[in-house]
Amino acid sequence: MEEYLWWRDGVIYQIYPRSFMDSNGDGLGDLEGILSRLDYLAELGVDALWLSPIYPSPDADFGYDVADHTAIDPRFGTLADFDRLVAETHQRGMRLILDMVMNHTSDQHPWFRESRSGRENPKRDWYLWRDRPNNWEAVFGGRAWEYDPATRQYYYHMFLQEQPDINWHNPEVRKAQLDVFRFWLERGVDGFRLDVFNLYFKDADFRDNPPRFGLRSFDRQKHVYDCDRPEMLPLLQELRALLDAYPERFAVGETFISTPERAAAYVGDRALHAAFSFDFTALEVFFPWNPAWVRKQVERREAAFTGNRWPTTVLANHDLPRTASRYCRGEDDAQAKLAMALLLTLRGTPFLYYGEEIGMRNVPLRRKEILDPPGKRRWPFYKGRDGCRAPMQWDNSAYAGFSTVRPWLPIHADYPERNVATQSGDADSLLNFTRKLIALRKEMPALRSGEFIPLSSPPGTFVYRRQSFGQTVQVMLNFTRNPIQIPLDAGAELKNWTLLLSTGSWEGSPAWILKPHEIVVLSSTQQALPASANPQEKR
Ligand code: NOJ
Repeated sequence: MEEYLWWRDGVIYQIYPRSFMDSNGDGLGDLEGILSRLDYLAELGVDALWLSPIYPSPDADFGYDVADHTAIDPRFGTLADFDRLVAETHQRGMRLILDMVMNHTSDQHPWFRESRSGRENPKRDWYLWRDRPNNWEAVFGGRAWEYDPATRQYYYHMFLQEQPDINWHNPEVRKAQLDVFRFWLERGVDGFRLDVFNLYFKDADFRDNPPRFGLRSFDRQKHVYDCDRPEMLPLLQELRALLDAYPERFAVGETFISTPERAAAYVGDRALHAAFSFDFTALEVFFPWNPAWVRKQVERREAAFTGNRWPTTVLANHDLPRTASRYCRGEDDAQAKLAMALLLTLRGTPFLYYGEEIGMRNVPLRRKEILDPPGKRRWPFYKGRDGCRAPMQWDNSAYAGFSTVRPWLPIHADYPERNVATQSGDADSLLNFTRKLIALRKEMPALRSGEFIPLSSPPGTFVYRRQSFGQTVQVMLNFTRNPIQIPLDAGAELKNWTLLLSTGSWEGSPAWILKPHEIVVLSSTQQALPASANPQEKR
């Protein structure tokens, strides 16, 4: 039996702290709130919790503008609360991952205040200052260079002007940042999610990016000098050595402008444990949700993440429209279940975004309710990210059991029916389906770490196997509203199938008919032929 690695074999659950659970009636989630819901998370079966930033922040970008990397924002709690959260999470057999925002800080961070205070200040070089801007653009819109009249120079920011980028070339900065990792490792944190890590280094000569075709001005350049610079790999090696000095620690990078190939290049024994490739999060308008497209994405990343490079599966996070909003019609959860089945049975560490397990939808917001800066700037073409950050729907009481007062963002109008309490009592709910699938992953090594083998199947379906020594699991998904017969070659050559899960009423052999939207998971103790022996299939 292979070694169990929590970050490879487990399920990681992302909490957006300000929207998870409010314990003190200020309309904002907090650490005590998370503590009060740990039993729910343990029962769901997740293995680790990733917390979006909980550090002091002026909230220009809702926590992703950090003003102090080694403290807790008082609105969320104290360091003592945090220590308790680590201990109680561990007590329940789960791990805790922190979000490290190290590409930039808040303009209110003491480092930047000092840096800005004068050209001669010792921290001037901790950020990127220039007499004249080059052609680099900010991803949230506008120029990336902000003029500082007091010191008559420009500073660079890839995101908001309140988020100046750090100069990672400076050895003192490098040391200070690595010390931050050390600080949290010493407090017992199990891992880190690195915000836009592949942006850390910029070209030391600030060369202009070459042009390319694109819609937004940001997309009309090739990001060769402001992203993916070669200095990143040695830094990751150093970071990895630091993590490896502690038992079972982990780092996953958020790859900026990601592709599977780009993400995989940062993963390995002397680099990151994982890097997001965001294979399935493209907007539905451009890439309709269908099995042929999904399969293409899976095959592309299977080709990129080979050997000891392990992929991640992400369908949603705090920057993207919610999974159910992308794929479901109205309140029907059939497509959300298919998406959940993929998330939890593909090869790769699944990242589950809070509320995804109950199919939370994006909250529709009026213009005056928008808080997210890119949403304010680009309305009505882009409405920002608030819609996917609304409060967790716990029950049907006032404010969905999230708070006792009006929360910082509106709650979705469907909360009286769509909530944890109601779905817990419904055997067919998305929540109970998710629980069953997570339990199945725990039980079946093939589902956790087995190889991925796609099988040919009729249009509208996706059929694949996960296979590890002595165990084959077959997953069959019908994305359509029609019954579809699965040809025998996708099932016949193995015998002794055991039904592990079905959302229809699977009758199996000899008909092999998948009912509308049906999800079937079977197992066989027989080993299938290696994929290469079947000319129809490719790995
Ligand atoms: C990526 C984060 O996921 C996003 O929420 C944030 O706005 C930017 N990085 C800037 O920190």
